[in-house]
Amino acid sequence: MVKEINTKVFDFESVNGISMNQLTQHYKLYEGYVKKINEIWNILAKKKDFKGSNPTFSTLRSLKLGESYALNGVKLHELYFENLGGNSTRPFGPILELIIRDYGSYSDFQNRFKGVGLSMRGWAVLAIDPIDNRLHIYGQDSHDKGLVWNAFPLLILDVYEHAYMIDFGIDRSKYIDVFMSNINFDIVNTRLSIYNTLMSKLPPMNPMLRYHHYLI
Ligand SMILES: [Fe+2]
Repeated sequence: MVKEINTKVFDFESVNGISMNQLTQHYKLYEGYVKKINEIWNILAKKKDFKGSNPTFSTLRSLKLGESYALNGVKLHELYFENLGGNSTRPFGPILELIIRDYGSYSDFQNRFKGVGLSMRGWAVLAIDPIDNRLHIYGQDSHDKGLVWNAFPLLILDVYEHAYMIDFGIDRSKYIDVFMSNINFDIVNTRLSIYNTLMSKLPPMNPMLRYHHYLI
């Protein structure tokens, strides 16, 4: 059976400081990843035997590398577009409480998150990780490099040049400042709530044990 996914639609009207041209050009790249993952899954579903598979070069190796790259490209872009804009761009609620708990203040978090965004070639990811049940800012150089398994993504920033070059040239710092003023905190709080619901299904135990339980 062939797996297929469709592109999601996002409302860019409420985004301030990033042009519709920049956002729609970026969206086209996302559409490309959806097309590619469907193409890869179709090949994997239809072709039953991959002779000569090996880790230097083989058809199955190429498909598997393409699968994780394209699928993470889809997921990361959907999370990014979803947490951009909206009417709740000021930090509030449970996510703000966690940020203050784990970073001291929202301002300190902003500086750290921006720093990671300036340091990486692909993505900055604020996640809550069940290994210690705390916030972590992870960095990725590409869709498939830097991911941390089981960490639950809360806020995603795309720092590839294609995300900002049309509007900001090479000024990534300005782009990140504009991004930070466009965070949809309703969405971030909803993601945190989903994580807490998932974790509440696990028996009470210390975070490290919960993590291992989660893996089983
Ligand atoms: Fe992107």
